[in-house]
Amino acid sequence: MAETGSTSRREAAPPCTLVIFGATGDLTKRLVMPAVYNLMRSGLISRNFAIVGLGRSEQTDKDFAAYLAKEVRGFMQGHEMGGVPIPFDEEAWGFIESHISYLAGDLNDAGVYKRLSEHLKKLDAENGTKGNVVFYLAVAASMFGPIVDRLGEAGLAQQDGGSFRRVIIEKPFGTDLDSARALNARVRKVLDEDQIYRIDHFLGKETVQNIMVLRFANGIFEPLWNRDHIDHVQITVAETVGVERRASFYEQTGALRDMVPNHVFQLLSLIAMEPPNSFAADAVRTEKTKVLEAVAPLDQERVRRNVVRGQYSAGTVRGNAVEGYRESQGVAKESATETYVAMRLDIENWRWAGVPFYLRTGKSMTRRTTEISIQFKTVPFALFRDTSVDTLTRNVLSFQLQPDEGVSLQFDAKRPGPEIEVGGVKMDFKYKDYFQAAPATGYETLIYDCMIGDAMLFQRADSVEAGWAVVQPALDYWRNDHSAPLEFYPAGSAGPDAADQLLWRSGRQWRPLE
Ligand code: BG6
Repeated sequence: MAETGSTSRREAAPPCTLVIFGATGDLTKRLVMPAVYNLMRSGLISRNFAIVGLGRSEQTDKDFAAYLAKEVRGFMQGHEMGGVPIPFDEEAWGFIESHISYLAGDLNDAGVYKRLSEHLKKLDAENGTKGNVVFYLAVAASMFGPIVDRLGEAGLAQQDGGSFRRVIIEKPFGTDLDSARALNARVRKVLDEDQIYRIDHFLGKETVQNIMVLRFANGIFEPLWNRDHIDHVQITVAETVGVERRASFYEQTGALRDMVPNHVFQLLSLIAMEPPNSFAADAVRTEKTKVLEAVAPLDQERVRRNVVRGQYSAGTVRGNAVEGYRESQGVAKESATETYVAMRLDIENWRWAGVPFYLRTGKSMTRRTTEISIQFKTVPFALFRDTSVDTLTRNVLSFQLQPDEGVSLQFDAKRPGPEIEVGGVKMDFKYKDYFQAAPATGYETLIYDCMIGDAMLFQRADSVEAGWAVVQPALDYWRNDHSAPLEFYPAGSAGPDAADQLLWRSGRQWRPLE
């Protein structure tokens, strides 16, 4: 099988220096640097380029470059495309390695930024990067504000003579509505909105971007994409991993903060948004934000009825015994932190009035799957002899985002035989059957887009705040009302019973996870 359309080839991004804060951290070695390597080997990064790593530990440029070389090689090992191993591109990596430098220091110390400023001038003169800099904040969230303040004080955010200065800010952007607002206000004192690139790595996933293509590049879906034809929508982000070694982060965070206002709401807004006027960053981001602003506020009563928080107890995930969340190292014995959340949201606008959106995400579940399913209304009347409307399958269009990316459509067909009998069948499109994608971290598109100044796949301030505003009542309720239920589910299950009841109440049910 082959693709039948065409794709566009992109050009190398403009000259620039990439400055990575948190250069010795996990994100840099696992995602950022492999992505930079992939971009370089695809010719998408300019040869007028340099990388500066900033970290606390003292080390030489050479040691730092050697450390990254080892990590990136390790990451690329065993990668293949169409069953053929991909050789490591020595030339591309060699170029990167010879353009890596390192600065050590405390990122709160203004002296570091003075040194960085001098260093950038030198690199600019050596590499012809035209004063363009992307600052990547791959650091703990508590450092976002201080680093941006220091960049401002050192004049590093200043865009002179046509050069650009852009700042990529990782997740989590705030821990609730107030802190997100405060962080937005703080960074906006130093940076214009178009210099800020708030990352949500879900938007780097090909299949997430494909939601827009499927909706807006095909004529057949959009006429059905509304309350007249859609009964409800389900969004599932189920993970098999548990808290692992992240207890200190997760205890403070929980599934709602960790996944919902960011990743899950990206999926929700791409599915529910109106067609944008264009694919310009602001046109798309405005439509996405409008979806979140139209969500019916979760007042106390709605939180009680429509939001389920769960926590996994001991169980078995994929054949392995898993201890309960509360038994995990670093987790409080009486922890009320949720590892699962399900909710019903209603979008109060012309298109979606009366169409519930059910969202769920959890850790230590039976299967890893990220899926959006659009559940269409059944036919109004059963025309076939001996077939009641009840036995007809609902048409379901489902986006499988990971693993096994694809799109499938479920519908009814006649079973062979003299009787008219109806059976549910499925049309399945699998990405890998049509497209051979080179292995990627998902950060390639995001880093490249930042370098070319396209913020479409990044979160705008209002959108981040709108996301927090939706979930804030649930956070408040759980914090203030100690009788708020916490539903336990065995690790390796599909989540707590209360989440099933959330749908049963209206005669619906979750798509099975198995
Ligand atoms: C991260 C969350 O943002 O996303 C993790 O902090 C979660 O808890 C991860 O596991 C999921 O991302 P992915 O790409 O593995 O689906």
